[in-house]
Amino acid sequence: MSVLVTGGAGYIGSHVVRLLQQRGTGVVVVDDLSNGRAERVGDAPVVELDLATDAAAPALAAAFAEHDVDAVIHFAARKQVGESVAKPARYWSQNVGGTANLLQAMETAGVGKLVFSSSAATYGAPDTEVVREDGPAEPINPYGQTKLVGEWMTRAAARAWGLRAANLRYFNVAGAGWDDLGDTAVMNLIPIVFSALDAGKAPSVFGDDYPTPDGSCVRDYVHVLDLAQAHLAALDHLAQDERPFDTFNVGTGTGASVFEVLAEVRQVTGVDVQPVVEPRRAGDPPRLVADVERITGTLGWHATKSLHDIVTSAWDAWRR
Ligand code: WQD
Repeated sequence: MSVLVTGGAGYIGSHVVRLLQQRGTGVVVVDDLSNGRAERVGDAPVVELDLATDAAAPALAAAFAEHDVDAVIHFAARKQVGESVAKPARYWSQNVGGTANLLQAMETAGVGKLVFSSSAATYGAPDTEVVREDGPAEPINPYGQTKLVGEWMTRAAARAWGLRAANLRYFNVAGAGWDDLGDTAVMNLIPIVFSALDAGKAPSVFGDDYPTPDGSCVRDYVHVLDLAQAHLAALDHLAQDERPFDTFNVGTGTGASVFEVLAEVRQVTGVDVQPVVEPRRAGDPPRLVADVERITGTLGWHATKSLHDIVTSAWDAWRR
């Protein structure tokens, strides 16, 4: 038996691949290698494939049979919010189309367990201290919309043919579990700040006039290794539990502001980071923090790593 991991050569996917390998589970990776790198997955076989193309159905059918696949973890997707606003059709075709092809292939082959990478972007701009999975999901950009539709698709498959699925809504993922698996894309706050430091530039804070304690936006930063462990907990849950479908926040339950993240970067790097405050970035919710009761109660998972661990591991990997 083995687990097929789409997007397994990417930043988060490769952490999950390595944990599965460490516990002796067979893994096969499907990745279009647009952002992923094959050297991240060790000796796992890699099927180079764009799930949104017509080549997906036969290639998945072959991989399921050849590797005796009984579960899928589905990371492969486009994930840049700004790009999704500029190129919405691309996001619908890649994220929704790719997931549809995957679900069809799973149904045809009788592969009945799925862990789906969803996002806190499904919540949009909530006005609550913490967000619960059963609260409103009103995404405010095409990226978040495609992730919410992905959740609907897994739920529909659960009803229609008995798929057992867990949707994991990631909050702000950062850090590195191993130095060779760090986030090489400069798309989120912590890598953006590191990149500014390297260039000798002042990092930007997008808005200091939000209704938060220090005026900057508050997010729930979760260590990528904790997040990766949540996938293994979800897989184990699907193997045992009779409940066919569920959605879980994956966060720490605690928020940190942009200024607090910068203070941690200052402490870890020893560089006296002096940011410049810029206008608010369009579409940023003031506060987005997970309620983690469901994942803790149902999967027995909770985050173990602090913001300090996140910044330290991210910095070590960045310097490598
Ligand atoms: C974090 C905070 C910025 C850069 C996005 C997606 C979300 C998930 C994670 C995938 C915000 C502020 C940033 C900078 C800043 N992705 N910031 N200066 O927007 O919270 O979440 O990534 O699933 O779905 O929406 O992450 O890292 O871009 O920003 O002040 O140079 O840092 O305004 O408050 P975000 P981020």
